[in-house]
Amino acid sequence: MNIRPRRNRVSPGVRAMVRENALSPQNLVLPMFVQGGEAVRTPINAMPGVARLSIDLLVEEARAAYNEGVSGVALFPVIPDALKDQRGTESLNDNGLLQRAVRALKSELPGLIVITDVALDPYSSDGHDGVVIDGEIHNDETLPHLAGMAVAQARAGADVVAPSDMMDGRVKVIREALETAGFTKTLICSYCVKFASAFYGPFREALDSAPRAGDKKTYQMDPANVREALREVALDEAEGADWLLVKPGLPYLDVIRAVREATSLPVATYHVSGEYAMLKAAAANGWLDYDRALLESLTGFRRAGANIIFTYGATDAAKLING
Ligand code: PBG
Repeated sequence: MNIRPRRNRVSPGVRAMVRENALSPQNLVLPMFVQGGEAVRTPINAMPGVARLSIDLLVEEARAAYNEGVSGVALFPVIPDALKDQRGTESLNDNGLLQRAVRALKSELPGLIVITDVALDPYSSDGHDGVVIDGEIHNDETLPHLAGMAVAQARAGADVVAPSDMMDGRVKVIREALETAGFTKTLICSYCVKFASAFYGPFREALDSAPRAGDKKTYQMDPANVREALREVALDEAEGADWLLVKPGLPYLDVIRAVREATSLPVATYHVSGEYAMLKAAAANGWLDYDRALLESLTGFRRAGANIIFTYGATDAAKLING
């Protein structure tokens, strides 16, 4: 018995020296929900600890995350029904909620990476990521709207625009529109491999953005597929994406690994609302230790090959890592 793997686990010091992957606050992005008004905080039922925030409170929560070393925030606006229409026109408004939130964050916290979501759903009266025509999500009709939306976000000061809509060809039109408008330094984080998942439930409650009819299966990917992900990777690389994101996270660790091996671009993943809700629900029942389960989940993403992790637990995790 002279081969004893346990020797490498003998003490905290040895374990630290042989640890293969590290999780740092720098890897983390905090997704946040922004709403109108002032000093308003509306909790989200299925996401304890997460709330829809007015811009003033958003800046304060973002500051707390940034002070713990969290790299960035990903913003999602809560748009009142009265401002929603079929084409998401409000998304182009330079004085719209999201654009104002971006400006506030960049002026208060210039070093914080501000990531904005490009998809019609928060603005769409149909609750779909694309334009609905005769009951169908129309790909090519959607593209110019996405491009306009990305430019409006870049104009407000977004560092990274993140198309999450899964329309074909959108990275290309967004990249071209950004170049034409002179935003040559704006990054594109493509939600390259996004599955039609049950785990987005709490998010749709938060934004009241669930599809009014049908589902998202004609644009988001079938959870059974991984080869198809590599096709999306090749296209988004060719179209000019800077980061490739896989979403959700935990049920798709093998997809993160496959994407990691297929590209030299940074790989991101999104630990989505339903994944966060599961941890919180189990912890509330005393069935799981939230802190440890959170760090273990996020470390799993690093091991699978993700550089960047979007998680509602970003500030919690950063505090735990910083001790
Ligand atoms: C939509 C979008 C969704 C999420 C991020 N962007 C939901 C959806 O596709 O229906 C989900 C994130 C989460 O569940 O935390 N463009």
